[in-house]
Amino acid sequence: MLLCACAEPPDWTPASTEQVAALQGKQVKAERARDALAAALLKELSSALTKGGPASGIEVCSRRSGEIAAAVRAEHGVAIGRTSFKLRNPSNAAPIWAADAVRDKVAEPRIFRSRSGSLGALYPIRLQPQCTLCHGPADQLAPDVRKALAARYPMDSATGFRPGDLRGWFWVEVP
Ligand code: HEC
Repeated sequence: MLLCACAEPPDWTPASTEQVAALQGKQVKAERARDALAAALLKELSSALTKGGPASGIEVCSRRSGEIAAAVRAEHGVAIGRTSFKLRNPSNAAPIWAADAVRDKVAEPRIFRSRSGSLGALYPIRLQPQCTLCHGPADQLAPDVRKALAARYPMDSATGFRPGDLRGWFWVEVP
């Protein structure tokens, strides 16, 4: 174990039971934002898949997922995103307060609190059958999907998942 020699206590810590209770209102806000982002992403994904198939879905995901998250951020007044221990887009790296839980693949929702009273929430995302089109075992991806992923995400490590697997998390910060 590393001992921290820093003078300052850490800004973010897992919330105690009492703190979780006190942060109830912010939790409701976080869940609403998470639901909005999940619904918008799924809607965009299924319309892209219907219109153009998985390879064009990759176009849409890479172009639209940031815009969709920005819209939810603005509408709900939160910071929000998706992260994983196996990333496709390196810019989806976890916020600092979530890093340990992500490394430990924590499979239940987790609530954190900052010194200033902000809430941080992590909500697990499980793989659904349709997700395997682009996140399944690499040798089972369609050739055009593999090609589109290689072109856009040379560092891709978000393959090898099966339905039901923990794929990653939505993270939400409520100030
Ligand atoms: C059409 C291909 C495609 C399908 C189907 C798909 N994804 Fe993705 N997924 C992507 C792409 C492309 C990215 C990278 C988006 C970006 O650049 O931020 C991504 C990123 C993610 C991330 C963010 C973390 C990371 O690795 O960058 C999560 C979490 C995720 N997908 C989960 C899912 C889940 C759950 C499903 C099924 C409901 C799903 N995906 C279906 C293509 C797909």
